[in-house]
Amino acid sequence: MSRELNILVLISGSGSNLQALIDASAKGLLGHARIHRVISSLADAYGLTRAANHQIPSQVHRLKEYYASIPKEDKEGRKAAREQFNTDLANIVVHGSKHGSVADYVRPDLVVCAGWMLILSPAFLNVVAEVNLPIINLHPALPGAFDGTHAIDRAWQAGQDGLITEGGVMIHKVIVEVDRGEPLLVKKLDLRKDETLEQYEERVHSTEHVAIVEGTKLALDEVKL
Ligand code: GRF
Repeated sequence: MSRELNILVLISGSGSNLQALIDASAKGLLGHARIHRVISSLADAYGLTRAANHQIPSQVHRLKEYYASIPKEDKEGRKAAREQFNTDLANIVVHGSKHGSVADYVRPDLVVCAGWMLILSPAFLNVVAEVNLPIINLHPALPGAFDGTHAIDRAWQAGQDGLITEGGVMIHKVIVEVDRGEPLLVKKLDLRKDETLEQYEERVHSTEHVAIVEGTKLALDEVKL
């Protein structure tokens, strides 16, 4: 009997994709895996409430706190602060605390970025890679199509402009290049001229809620104990 696998979910917002994972886990669709922690980049993310509703421990890790004492024009200072944010996040994920290992901390077997809105720098990725901890991300676009933010709006607009006929959603492995990691799962969506952005967005989100579960399952199947 293999041990239970632990999933740590990174969020920044409403957490509807976290909810999809919670619901899937409750139905046994994630096999021997449970969501054991949630970390949010924002204190007011409704995803924190969703975690609390299911007794999933959570914590907030805010970039704003690292920027607090640094003037906007101090580019170098803010760059260093952002690196520290990433280093501390990696230590929290891998060891349970930014100040080093916590005795009874349960290290995750998989990290899922579910609406996590901050770029994860090498300062984070290198620490996670050192312990062979896989990390995947949900991105509402096709591989290489619309990397970065506002991907849904940009895909819809390109469809309206007749430049493309397909959008979609993917779950990919996280690497330094933003949204460029190897896709685990791609779900295509046709772009319709007569469709409003809101209508397309609704189709994207419902597709995400399926993809996040399927993609997480694929990643869990690759976890080597
Ligand atoms: C999703 O559309 C995701 O692709 C994007 O932000 C949204 C997250 O939604 N990065 P939620 O927080 O999971 O509801």
